[in-house]
Amino acid sequence: MTEETLTIRNNSTGKEADFSLLKGTIGTPVIDVSSLNKKMGLFTYDPGFMSTSSCKSAITYIDGEKGVLLYRGYPIDQLAEKCSFLEVAHLLMNGELASDSKQAEFEHEVGQHAMLHEAMRSFIDGFHYDAHPMAMMVGIVGSLSAFYHSELDMNDPEHRRISAMRMLAKMPVIAAACYRHSIGFPFVYPRSDLSYCENFLNMMFSLPSQKYIDKDNYIDPVAVKALNLLFILHADHEQNASTSTVRLASSTGANPYACIAAGIGALWGPAHGGANEAVLSMLEEIGTVDRIPMFIEKAKDKNDPFRLMGFGHRVYKNFDPRATIIRKACYEVLEGLAGSEKDPLFELALELEKYALNDEYFIEKKLYPNVDFYSGIIYKALNIPVDMFTVMFTIARTAGWVSHWLEMMAEPGQRIGRPRQIYTGHDIRNI
Ligand code: CMC
Repeated sequence: MTEETLTIRNNSTGKEADFSLLKGTIGTPVIDVSSLNKKMGLFTYDPGFMSTSSCKSAITYIDGEKGVLLYRGYPIDQLAEKCSFLEVAHLLMNGELASDSKQAEFEHEVGQHAMLHEAMRSFIDGFHYDAHPMAMMVGIVGSLSAFYHSELDMNDPEHRRISAMRMLAKMPVIAAACYRHSIGFPFVYPRSDLSYCENFLNMMFSLPSQKYIDKDNYIDPVAVKALNLLFILHADHEQNASTSTVRLASSTGANPYACIAAGIGALWGPAHGGANEAVLSMLEEIGTVDRIPMFIEKAKDKNDPFRLMGFGHRVYKNFDPRATIIRKACYEVLEGLAGSEKDPLFELALELEKYALNDEYFIEKKLYPNVDFYSGIIYKALNIPVDMFTVMFTIARTAGWVSHWLEMMAEPGQRIGRPRQIYTGHDIRNI
């Protein structure tokens, strides 16, 4: 990193001090204000982190104006076209795409870590059948440290690596177990002869009486390709709310399973990962094209809490490159998937997008479809139930969360994350 300085002057006191201007490989320069309080007796105020960089990271880069998303320097469209999800997970976690033999080793290890401790079955069975799967995910992932406490020395890089691999490997198994529990179907064990996405589909949909994979070991390649694509697009997104939650929780030295569980809780919100579920509900509520104008007006009405779900993004102010890729994939999946037919909700989504993109409110506020506007259409075509959509996001984002956790834990001189505030309560008073 190169360093320049920037002088900040307090006009009321005349006090001034120099602060370093930090520059990453690419992207907006950043003022290092960590010594602001010491030098000038001031704090910064930035609710929602509109202008604040919380850390240094070499994992993901976004240029919101240009619609650029890079994982470890590689453009998202190239990764989406040429890689599997586990190749991308290796890239995010280790910094490089692996050679064929290294990738095979990595995938073999994921397979080895996929099994859940058998006692977790009774833990899962303890949930009521209609529990939201995200509620189950938070609890079950948080409980992993109770089952896997032998490698929890966070000062040991090998322990950290094993914990990260466990979470990557077990997340789809836990997710499928939550689904099976909710519908009263028997739990399906993971199979290490299947790829990550094939394995997940098999654990979700296989029945003792009717195998998901047929006698020729056939599993619809369109479904596998679509799942890989969605997992890749959701795998990481730099310091988003859930990743920042994972980092903040980790800064206390808490065990990684608890930190990832905190991230899952943050992801659940409708402003973040919960949006994919909310988009489908919204499209179902809109129902027909003639009702679009009414919902657009509701979204624009300041007195109405309704927002167009799947629209807008804190960082992307031009287009979300992930949405462009998913929109195209919707056509391929709906046309190519065996037994699938034209989905009227996709037609409705296309019309809604067209309508909003021509509306002055959305143009002026630079609100575009985000990754979640179309992802639910594909999940629906894959027979994933709506309340599992955010769980699907969780499986994918685990690759990003553990990568950020590994990066952070390896950084020397880590400090607990501890923001300050502007106090607006009473001044000191006596009883
Ligand atoms: N519908 C209607 N108005 C909107 C929308 C929307 N979807 N999004 C933003 N606005 C308006 C908002 O009311 C505000 O107007 P004003 O300046 O007049 O007060 C302006 O646009 C800026 O919005 P903001 O809430 O200050 O922007 P933000 O960066 O804090 O929030 C967001 C970003 C994604 C939370 C927000 O756009 C939103 O709530 N979108 C709908 C939920 C959604 O699709 N979330 C998924 C995000 S992508 C996946 C992920 O990150 O997990």
